[in-house]
Amino acid sequence: HNIQLQPYNSFRTGAVAKLFAQPATVAALQQILARYKSEDKLVIGKGCNLFFTRDFDGLVIKPDISGIQVLKENDDWVEIEAGAAEDWDNFVAFCVSRGFAGVENLSLIPGTVGAAPIQNIGAYGTEVKDVITRVEAVNSVSGNRESFTNAACGFTYRNSIFKETRRFVITSVIFRLQKKFSYVEKYADLKQELQGNPHPSLQEVRDAVIRIRTRKLPDHLKLPNAGSFFKNPVLTELEKDELLKLLPDAPIYRFGNNSYKTSAAYLIEKAGYKGRRKGDVGIYDRHALIVVNYGTGTGSEILDFVREIQQEVQTRFNIGLEPEVWIF
Ligand code: EPU
Repeated sequence: HNIQLQPYNSFRTGAVAKLFAQPATVAALQQILARYKSEDKLVIGKGCNLFFTRDFDGLVIKPDISGIQVLKENDDWVEIEAGAAEDWDNFVAFCVSRGFAGVENLSLIPGTVGAAPIQNIGAYGTEVKDVITRVEAVNSVSGNRESFTNAACGFTYRNSIFKETRRFVITSVIFRLQKKFSYVEKYADLKQELQGNPHPSLQEVRDAVIRIRTRKLPDHLKLPNAGSFFKNPVLTELEKDELLKLLPDAPIYRFGNNSYKTSAAYLIEKAGYKGRRKGDVGIYDRHALIVVNYGTGTGSEILDFVREIQQEVQTRFNIGLEPEVWIF
Protein backbone atom coordinates (compact mmCIF):
# COMPACT_ATOMS: atom_id res chain seq x y z
CA HIS A 1 0.00 0.00 0.00
CA ASN A 2 1.06 3.57 -0.81
CA ILE A 3 4.27 2.71 -2.58
CA GLN A 4 6.70 5.42 -3.70
CA LEU A 5 7.32 4.97 -7.44
CA GLN A 6 10.52 7.02 -7.63
CA PRO A 7 12.79 3.92 -7.61
CA TYR A 8 10.63 2.35 -10.32
CA ASN A 9 11.22 4.86 -13.12
CA SER A 10 14.51 5.76 -14.77
CA PHE A 11 13.65 9.51 -14.72
CA ARG A 12 13.39 9.23 -10.90
CA THR A 13 10.19 11.22 -10.77
CA GLY A 14 8.23 10.86 -7.53
CA ALA A 15 4.65 9.62 -7.27
CA VAL A 16 2.70 7.37 -4.93
CA ALA A 17 0.73 4.31 -6.03
CA LYS A 18 -2.13 3.10 -3.86
CA LEU A 19 -1.38 -0.57 -4.61
CA PHE A 20 1.66 -2.38 -5.98
CA ALA A 21 2.10 -6.03 -7.00
CA GLN A 22 4.95 -8.13 -8.40
CA PRO A 23 3.42 -11.45 -9.50
CA ALA A 24 6.05 -14.12 -10.20
CA THR A 25 3.81 -16.45 -12.21
CA VAL A 26 0.99 -16.13 -14.72
CA ALA A 27 -1.38 -17.72 -12.19
CA ALA A 28 -0.41 -15.18 -9.52
CA LEU A 29 -0.97 -12.38 -12.02
CA GLN A 30 -4.44 -13.73 -12.86
CA GLN A 31 -5.31 -13.95 -9.16
CA ILE A 32 -4.30 -10.34 -8.61
CA LEU A 33 -6.31 -9.18 -11.63
CA ALA A 34 -9.39 -11.05 -10.32
CA ARG A 35 -8.99 -9.69 -6.82
CA TYR A 36 -8.52 -6.06 -7.85
CA LYS A 37 -10.94 -6.08 -10.76
CA SER A 38 -12.32 -2.61 -10.11
CA GLU A 39 -8.97 -0.85 -9.67
CA ASP A 40 -7.28 1.15 -12.42
CA LYS A 41 -4.14 -0.62 -13.51
CA LEU A 42 -0.72 0.41 -14.69
CA VAL A 43 1.86 -2.14 -15.82
CA ILE A 44 5.55 -1.30 -15.62
CA GLY A 45 8.79 -3.06 -16.49
CA LYS A 46 11.90 -1.22 -15.35
CA GLY A 47 10.16 2.10 -15.91
CA CYS A 48 12.70 3.17 -18.52
CA ASN A 49 10.24 4.77 -20.90
CA LEU A 50 7.80 6.63 -18.69
CA PHE A 51 7.55 9.22 -15.98
CA PHE A 52 4.95 10.27 -13.44
CA THR A 53 3.28 13.65 -13.19
CA ARG A 54 0.76 12.58 -10.54
CA ASP A 55 -0.01 9.97 -7.90
CA PHE A 56 -1.83 6.84 -8.99
CA ASP A 57 -5.01 5.81 -7.22
CA GLY A 58 -4.89 2.24 -8.48
CA LEU A 59 -2.79 -0.89 -8.84
CA VAL A 60 0.72 -0.87 -10.32
CA ILE A 61 1.71 -4.29 -11.63
CA LYS A 62 5.38 -5.07 -12.15
CA PRO A 63 5.53 -8.60 -13.57
CA ASP A 64 8.27 -10.69 -11.98
CA ILE A 65 8.04 -13.61 -14.41
CA SER A 66 11.53 -14.77 -15.39
CA GLY A 67 13.29 -17.56 -17.28
CA ILE A 68 14.78 -18.11 -20.72
CA GLN A 69 14.19 -21.38 -22.55
CA VAL A 70 14.67 -22.83 -26.01
CA LEU A 71 11.32 -24.06 -27.34
CA LYS A 72 12.32 -25.44 -30.76
CA GLU A 73 15.34 -25.46 -32.99
CA ASN A 74 16.77 -26.78 -36.23
CA ASP A 75 20.02 -26.24 -38.11
CA ASP A 76 19.06 -22.72 -39.15
CA TRP A 77 17.14 -21.17 -36.29
CA VAL A 78 16.12 -21.36 -32.68
CA GLU A 79 12.82 -20.38 -31.11
CA ILE A 80 13.37 -19.02 -27.65
CA GLU A 81 10.98 -17.84 -24.94
CA ALA A 82 11.93 -15.22 -22.38
CA GLY A 83 9.92 -14.15 -19.33
CA ALA A 84 8.65 -10.56 -19.20
CA ALA A 85 10.84 -9.60 -16.24
CA GLU A 86 14.13 -10.67 -17.83
CA ASP A 87 16.51 -7.76 -18.28
CA TRP A 88 16.55 -6.94 -21.99
CA ASP A 89 20.30 -6.54 -22.33
CA ASN A 90 20.98 -9.74 -20.34
CA PHE A 91 18.77 -11.50 -22.85
CA VAL A 92 20.74 -10.00 -25.75
CA ALA A 93 24.02 -11.04 -24.08
CA PHE A 94 22.65 -14.58 -23.64
CA CYS A 95 21.70 -14.79 -27.33
CA VAL A 96 25.01 -13.37 -28.57
CA SER A 97 27.03 -15.72 -26.35
CA ARG A 98 25.23 -18.72 -27.87
CA GLY A 99 25.56 -17.47 -31.43
CA PHE A 100 21.85 -16.66 -31.88
CA ALA A 101 21.61 -13.73 -34.28
CA GLY A 102 18.90 -11.07 -34.57
CA VAL A 103 18.96 -8.95 -31.42
CA GLU A 104 22.64 -7.85 -31.33
CA ASN A 105 21.83 -4.39 -32.75
CA LEU A 106 19.48 -3.91 -29.80
CA SER A 107 22.30 -4.23 -27.26
CA LEU A 108 22.29 -2.01 -24.17
CA ILE A 109 18.69 -0.82 -24.54
CA PRO A 110 17.48 -0.39 -20.97
CA GLY A 111 14.36 -2.19 -19.78
CA THR A 112 12.76 -5.62 -19.69
CA VAL A 113 11.92 -8.26 -22.29
CA GLY A 114 8.20 -7.73 -21.59
CA ALA A 115 8.43 -4.03 -22.37
CA ALA A 116 10.31 -4.53 -25.65
CA PRO A 117 7.25 -5.31 -27.83
CA ILE A 118 5.14 -2.52 -26.32
CA GLN A 119 7.00 0.26 -28.08
CA ASN A 120 8.67 -2.04 -30.62
CA ILE A 121 12.16 -1.05 -29.48
CA GLY A 122 14.59 -0.37 -32.27
CA ALA A 123 18.14 0.70 -32.98
CA TYR A 124 20.73 0.61 -35.78
CA GLY A 125 18.29 -0.54 -38.44
CA THR A 126 16.70 -3.36 -36.43
CA GLU A 127 13.32 -3.38 -34.71
CA VAL A 128 12.32 -6.05 -32.22
CA LYS A 129 9.29 -6.87 -34.42
CA ASP A 130 11.75 -8.39 -36.92
CA VAL A 131 12.49 -11.29 -34.55
CA ILE A 132 9.30 -11.75 -32.52
CA THR A 133 7.09 -14.71 -33.43
CA ARG A 134 4.63 -14.53 -30.54
CA VAL A 135 3.78 -12.48 -27.47
CA GLU A 136 2.07 -14.14 -24.51
CA ALA A 137 -0.11 -11.89 -22.36
CA VAL A 138 -2.98 -11.74 -19.92
CA ASN A 139 -5.93 -9.51 -20.71
CA SER A 140 -6.16 -7.19 -17.71
CA VAL A 141 -9.93 -6.79 -18.10
CA SER A 142 -11.03 -10.40 -18.63
CA GLY A 143 -8.09 -12.03 -16.84
CA ASN A 144 -7.73 -14.50 -19.73
CA ARG A 145 -4.47 -15.54 -21.33
CA GLU A 146 -4.03 -14.39 -24.91
CA SER A 147 -1.38 -15.29 -27.44
CA PHE A 148 -0.50 -12.78 -30.17
CA THR A 149 1.13 -13.73 -33.46
CA ASN A 150 3.57 -11.18 -34.86
CA ALA A 151 0.85 -9.85 -37.19
CA ALA A 152 -1.66 -9.55 -34.32
CA CYS A 153 0.77 -7.30 -32.40
CA GLY A 154 0.16 -4.47 -34.89
CA PHE A 155 3.78 -3.36 -34.82
CA THR A 156 4.71 0.00 -36.35
CA TYR A 157 7.50 2.47 -35.59
CA ARG A 158 7.70 2.61 -31.76
CA ASN A 159 4.13 1.36 -31.45
CA SER A 160 2.00 -1.78 -31.08
CA ILE A 161 -1.46 -2.92 -30.07
CA PHE A 162 -0.12 -3.21 -26.50
CA LYS A 163 0.80 0.47 -26.41
CA GLU A 164 -2.41 1.51 -28.19
CA THR A 165 -4.78 -0.36 -25.89
CA ARG A 166 -2.84 -0.57 -22.60
CA ARG A 167 -5.02 -3.59 -21.92
CA PHE A 168 -2.56 -6.47 -21.78
CA VAL A 169 0.03 -7.60 -19.29
CA ILE A 170 2.80 -9.23 -21.30
CA THR A 171 4.05 -12.37 -19.55
CA SER A 172 6.61 -13.69 -22.05
CA VAL A 173 7.94 -13.12 -25.56
CA ILE A 174 8.92 -15.75 -28.14
CA PHE A 175 11.71 -14.93 -30.58
CA ARG A 176 13.04 -16.69 -33.65
CA LEU A 177 16.79 -16.14 -33.98
CA GLN A 178 19.20 -17.32 -36.65
CA LYS A 179 22.09 -19.67 -36.04
CA LYS A 180 24.00 -18.46 -39.08
CA PHE A 181 25.12 -14.88 -38.91
CA SER A 182 26.32 -12.73 -41.72
CA TYR A 183 26.48 -9.04 -41.00
CA VAL A 184 24.27 -6.80 -43.13
CA GLU A 185 25.17 -3.16 -43.06
CA LYS A 186 22.06 -1.11 -42.25
CA TYR A 187 23.09 1.99 -40.36
CA ALA A 188 25.86 4.46 -41.09
CA ASP A 189 26.92 4.94 -37.45
CA LEU A 190 27.43 1.23 -36.93
CA LYS A 191 29.26 0.82 -40.22
CA GLN A 192 31.64 3.55 -39.18
CA GLU A 193 32.21 2.00 -35.76
CA LEU A 194 33.03 -1.34 -37.43
CA GLN A 195 35.31 0.22 -39.99
CA GLY A 196 38.01 -2.07 -41.26
CA ASN A 197 35.92 -5.09 -40.28
CA PRO A 198 33.42 -5.99 -43.03
CA HIS A 199 32.66 -9.41 -41.49
CA PRO A 200 32.25 -8.81 -37.77
CA SER A 201 31.17 -11.56 -35.40
CA LEU A 202 27.97 -11.22 -33.38
CA GLN A 203 30.02 -10.26 -30.35
CA GLU A 204 31.90 -7.61 -32.35
CA VAL A 205 28.60 -6.07 -33.48
CA ARG A 206 27.31 -6.07 -29.92
CA ASP A 207 30.53 -4.46 -28.68
CA ALA A 208 30.36 -1.77 -31.37
CA VAL A 209 26.74 -0.94 -30.50
CA ILE A 210 27.67 -0.75 -26.82
CA ARG A 211 30.54 1.63 -27.61
CA ILE A 212 28.32 3.95 -29.69
CA ARG A 213 25.55 4.02 -27.10
CA THR A 214 27.94 4.54 -24.20
CA ARG A 215 29.46 7.50 -26.00
CA LYS A 216 26.18 9.16 -26.95
CA LEU A 217 23.64 8.25 -24.33
CA PRO A 218 23.77 8.97 -20.60
CA ASP A 219 23.50 6.09 -18.12
CA HIS A 220 20.15 6.55 -16.40
CA LEU A 221 21.64 5.36 -13.11
CA LYS A 222 23.94 8.40 -13.13
CA LEU A 223 21.82 10.92 -15.06
CA PRO A 224 18.15 9.93 -14.83
CA ASN A 225 16.51 9.90 -18.29
CA ALA A 226 14.19 7.79 -20.42
CA GLY A 227 16.13 7.47 -23.69
CA SER A 228 14.84 9.26 -26.77
CA PHE A 229 12.20 11.61 -25.47
CA PHE A 230 10.47 12.22 -28.81
CA LYS A 231 9.78 10.06 -31.84
CA ASN A 232 11.51 11.00 -35.04
CA PRO A 233 8.87 12.89 -37.05
CA VAL A 234 7.42 11.23 -40.13
CA LEU A 235 6.81 13.72 -42.94
CA THR A 236 4.93 13.78 -46.23
CA GLU A 237 6.79 14.78 -49.39
CA LEU A 238 5.42 18.31 -49.07
CA GLU A 239 6.35 18.65 -45.40
CA LYS A 240 9.84 17.36 -46.19
CA ASP A 241 10.26 19.98 -48.95
CA GLU A 242 9.04 22.74 -46.63
CA LEU A 243 11.51 21.66 -43.96
CA LEU A 244 14.39 21.59 -46.43
CA LYS A 245 13.61 25.18 -47.40
CA LEU A 246 14.08 26.20 -43.76
CA LEU A 247 16.88 23.77 -42.93
CA PRO A 248 18.68 22.60 -46.08
CA ASP A 249 20.96 20.33 -44.02
CA ALA A 250 18.17 18.47 -42.23
CA PRO A 251 18.74 14.70 -42.28
CA ILE A 252 16.02 12.98 -44.31
CA TYR A 253 15.50 9.22 -44.44
CA ARG A 254 12.99 7.36 -46.61
CA PHE A 255 10.21 5.85 -44.53
CA GLY A 256 7.84 3.45 -46.26
CA ASN A 257 6.59 4.25 -49.73
CA ASN A 258 5.89 7.95 -49.82
CA SER A 259 6.95 9.21 -46.40
CA TYR A 260 10.15 10.53 -44.92
CA LYS A 261 11.63 10.60 -41.47
CA THR A 262 13.72 13.43 -40.11
CA SER A 263 15.72 13.64 -36.90
CA ALA A 264 14.05 15.05 -33.79
CA ALA A 265 17.52 15.45 -32.25
CA TYR A 266 18.57 17.66 -35.16
CA LEU A 267 15.48 19.88 -34.85
CA ILE A 268 15.95 20.27 -31.09
CA GLU A 269 19.61 21.12 -31.61
CA LYS A 270 18.69 23.70 -34.29
CA ALA A 271 16.12 25.20 -31.92
CA GLY A 272 19.02 25.87 -29.55
CA TYR A 273 18.21 23.38 -26.84
CA LYS A 274 21.14 21.00 -26.95
CA GLY A 275 22.85 21.13 -23.55
CA ARG A 276 20.35 23.70 -22.28
CA ARG A 277 19.11 23.43 -18.73
CA LYS A 278 16.15 24.85 -16.88
CA GLY A 279 16.24 24.22 -13.15
CA ASP A 280 16.91 20.55 -12.67
CA VAL A 281 15.72 19.50 -16.13
CA GLY A 282 17.66 19.80 -19.35
CA ILE A 283 18.76 18.42 -22.69
CA TYR A 284 21.86 16.24 -22.57
CA ASP A 285 24.87 18.00 -24.04
CA ARG A 286 25.96 15.04 -26.19
CA HIS A 287 22.58 14.07 -27.64
CA ALA A 288 19.69 16.44 -28.22
CA LEU A 289 16.98 13.77 -28.02
CA ILE A 290 17.68 12.99 -24.38
CA VAL A 291 15.93 14.89 -21.60
CA VAL A 292 17.78 14.54 -18.31
CA ASN A 293 16.66 14.99 -14.73
CA TYR A 294 19.75 16.54 -13.15
CA GLY A 295 18.45 16.54 -9.61
CA THR A 296 15.05 16.85 -8.12
CA GLY A 297 13.17 17.54 -11.33
CA THR A 298 9.54 16.53 -10.93
CA GLY A 299 7.29 15.10 -13.59
CA SER A 300 5.61 18.46 -14.04
CA GLU A 301 8.94 20.27 -14.46
CA ILE A 302 9.86 17.78 -17.17
CA LEU A 303 6.49 18.29 -18.80
CA ASP A 304 6.81 22.11 -18.79
CA PHE A 305 10.29 21.88 -20.28
CA VAL A 306 9.34 19.50 -23.09
CA ARG A 307 6.22 21.54 -23.92
CA GLU A 308 8.47 24.56 -24.34
CA ILE A 309 10.66 22.58 -26.76
CA GLN A 310 7.63 21.32 -28.71
CA GLN A 311 6.37 24.90 -28.96
CA GLU A 312 9.72 26.21 -30.15
CA VAL A 313 10.19 23.48 -32.79
CA GLN A 314 6.61 24.02 -33.98
CA THR A 315 7.06 27.78 -34.29
CA ARG A 316 10.45 27.63 -35.97
CA PHE A 317 10.12 24.60 -38.22
CA ASN A 318 6.38 23.90 -38.35
CA ILE A 319 6.85 20.35 -37.10
CA GLY A 320 5.04 18.77 -34.18
CA LEU A 321 7.22 16.58 -31.98
CA GLU A 322 5.41 13.62 -30.48
CA PRO A 323 6.65 12.16 -27.18
CA GLU A 324 8.05 8.67 -27.39
CA VAL A 325 8.16 8.40 -23.60
CA TRP A 326 4.91 7.60 -21.85
CA ILE A 327 3.77 10.49 -19.67
CA PHE A 328 1.67 9.28 -16.81
N1 EPU B 1 21.56 14.38 -34.37
C1 EPU B 1 21.71 15.73 -34.17
N2 EPU B 1 22.04 16.17 -32.92
C2 EPU B 1 22.22 15.35 -31.89
C3 EPU B 1 22.07 13.95 -32.09
C4 EPU B 1 21.73 13.50 -33.35
O1 EPU B 1 21.56 16.52 -35.06
O2 EPU B 1 22.49 15.83 -30.78
C5 EPU B 1 21.14 13.91 -35.71
C6 EPU B 1 22.27 13.52 -36.59
O3 EPU B 1 22.00 13.95 -37.90
C7 EPU B 1 22.24 12.00 -36.54
C8 EPU B 1 20.75 11.74 -36.43
O4 EPU B 1 20.29 12.80 -35.61
O5 EPU B 1 22.80 11.45 -37.66
C9 EPU B 1 20.39 10.42 -35.83
O6 EPU B 1 20.95 10.30 -34.55
P1 EPU B 1 21.05 8.86 -33.83
O7 EPU B 1 21.71 7.89 -34.72
O8 EPU B 1 21.59 9.05 -32.48
O9 EPU B 1 19.55 8.41 -33.77
P2 EPU B 1 18.27 9.10 -33.13
O10 EPU B 1 17.33 9.44 -34.20
O11 EPU B 1 18.63 10.16 -32.18
C10 EPU B 1 17.14 6.74 -32.95
C11 EPU B 1 16.27 6.03 -31.94
C12 EPU B 1 17.15 5.52 -30.81
C13 EPU B 1 18.17 4.57 -31.37
C14 EPU B 1 19.02 5.30 -32.42
C15 EPU B 1 20.01 4.40 -33.10
C16 EPU B 1 14.05 7.05 -31.99
C17 EPU B 1 13.08 7.96 -31.31
N3 EPU B 1 15.25 6.95 -31.42
O12 EPU B 1 17.70 7.86 -32.27
O13 EPU B 1 16.32 4.84 -29.90
O14 EPU B 1 19.02 4.07 -30.35
O15 EPU B 1 18.13 5.84 -33.43
O16 EPU B 1 19.36 3.58 -34.01
O17 EPU B 1 13.72 6.46 -33.01
C18 EPU B 1 14.97 5.26 -27.97
O18 EPU B 1 13.99 5.02 -28.68
O19 EPU B 1 14.84 5.54 -26.74
C19 EPU B 1 16.28 5.24 -28.56
C20 EPU B 1 17.37 5.62 -27.87
